[in-house]
Amino acid sequence: MSLQFRVVCVAATLAVFVPMAHGQAATEYRLSNDVPGDWPRQPVRAAHGMVASDEELGSQAGVEILKRGGNAVDAAVATAFALAVVEPAAGNIGGGGFMLVRLADGRTTFFDYREVAPGKASRDMYIGPDGKLDKLASVVGYKSIAVPGTVAGLELALKTYGKLKLSEVMAPAIHLAEDGFPVSEKLARQLEDQRTELQQFSVSRHIFLNDGKMFRAGDTFRQPELAATLKRIARNGAAEFYHGETAKLIADDMQRLGGLITLEDLAHYQPKLRQTLQASYDLDGHKWEVITSPPPSSGGVAIIEALNILRGVPLKGWEDAESVHLVVEAMRRVFADRAAYLADPDFAKVPVEGLTSDCYAKELAATIDLRHASSSQNVKAGVPHPCGVSTSNSRAPQAISLNDGPHTTHFSVVDAAGNAVASTYTLNAYYGSRVTSTAGFLLNDEMDDFTTQPGVPNTLMGLMQSDANAIAPGHRPLSSMTPTMLLRDGTLSFVTGSPGGPTIISATLLSVLNWMRLGMDAQAAINAPRFHHQWLPDVVVMESDFSASLEAALNAQGYTTRRRGHIGLVNAIGVDPKTGERLGAADPRDKGSAVGY
Ligand code: DON
Repeated sequence: MSLQFRVVCVAATLAVFVPMAHGQAATEYRLSNDVPGDWPRQPVRAAHGMVASDEELGSQAGVEILKRGGNAVDAAVATAFALAVVEPAAGNIGGGGFMLVRLADGRTTFFDYREVAPGKASRDMYIGPDGKLDKLASVVGYKSIAVPGTVAGLELALKTYGKLKLSEVMAPAIHLAEDGFPVSEKLARQLEDQRTELQQFSVSRHIFLNDGKMFRAGDTFRQPELAATLKRIARNGAAEFYHGETAKLIADDMQRLGGLITLEDLAHYQPKLRQTLQASYDLDGHKWEVITSPPPSSGGVAIIEALNILRGVPLKGWEDAESVHLVVEAMRRVFADRAAYLADPDFAKVPVEGLTSDCYAKELAATIDLRHASSSQNVKAGVPHPCGVSTSNSRAPQAISLNDGPHTTHFSVVDAAGNAVASTYTLNAYYGSRVTSTAGFLLNDEMDDFTTQPGVPNTLMGLMQSDANAIAPGHRPLSSMTPTMLLRDGTLSFVTGSPGGPTIISATLLSVLNWMRLGMDAQAAINAPRFHHQWLPDVVVMESDFSASLEAALNAQGYTTRRRGHIGLVNAIGVDPKTGERLGAADPRDKGSAVGY
């Protein structure tokens, strides 16, 4: 039987046998006693609004703003500033990110505040005279820092859709920085883990290592330098960060200590408004719409391409090797295309329409052997094309992508009116470049998301990417961050996203499949075990709580498998289709927190 015919047969079978998947209406996929004892079994339910983030204090800051009459965007900006204080590993004002907004009236917008390469950056800046990549230079220290976008992006989002003033939504963050907050065991452990890296930089050592004395759980962590900077921003707006005293402090540090960013780079930084990517799926009599992230995120294209490949393919759950196999094969093909085609859309021609077309997805689905693993040696980037347009002869550039690294943070917000925000922002690595500005905040190492040397993996993510993602002044490095939402019959249904480098795409995709295709409850959709495949290396990475028998079944199909503690940290919100209640589902893998009212 031809592969194409077999895929069609499966689709036909699906229509008859697969149980109805209503998204949050169906029985929980995981039995409650399947998950570790301290994981929540149920989502947090609330009638009005909900914020789900990595940190309780961050979620509380957002809810405080909702209660004061702010909308979801006001709350998201408040949460982002608060996380910059209480989650220094990833929350930030010295990095960049994406914010996906859907208003209750149906308008959608994507705020792109990704960092850009400074004017003095150059294509081969990390390659030594010996032709070798300096692997540390793009991840630790001053040369790894790209021009931050967070403050400009948050201000733009607030000005576009918020109801409150910047000073109002920043108040919780200023309070947390000035008066301090109790150091959690998580934070104390992270700072200990990062001690060697952070102590190389005097301001990092002073602020985050308590001048070498280190913080213990329960200590109060005050950040007076950050509080002063936040107050100046609250007073003068983003102009303070890009033209004011903060800009001068950043540029002075750079000049003294070997960084590239100048006052001019900061003055020229611009966040962008982009159109969201959208796709729709008819399932069990319901119309589902996916609203997701456009380039320079690679994730939205990947999620739609994967969902298209899996359209009509039966999925039973992640204890079923056949289902895992089909999703892994979709991931493999999507990641091959990611590596070849995705880059900053302001400078590269990214074939978004072709990559997300159903006709192209059908061609890719037809290459999947229903019983056996494909080999990534044979699966190359495809030739994407919109329906009705024949494929050109041009082949994609070859590139490969591997592994992930920590750390980034995703949070979701839904307000009482039904406005929603999905936002992922990052310093790239845990604690970014480990460089702390004299102005009191950590700076990113986002330069490592570029193709640092053609044909050689970049340091943090082990990514080999195409030339379209080469370093050039003003370019945005390619990202995997994928804030995403689902609508069911035109109504907001699910808000999701994750950190995790390339595993962001897999974790976000699985949360969407769990909710939309498998009908899991919101918390079950987050608790369910995750797996990841990114084309190269040709390995299925699986969380440790998958059963040995499932792994054996995958091995029998020809897969190489590897276990990992956890993949992604998805902080999501569902909406109960019957009651309209907000269902906060924070990721228990690293003690996320959903707070509602
Ligand atoms: O934008 C990106 O794709 C990366 N800078 C994200 C890094 C990341 O998620 C690491 N965190 N776990």
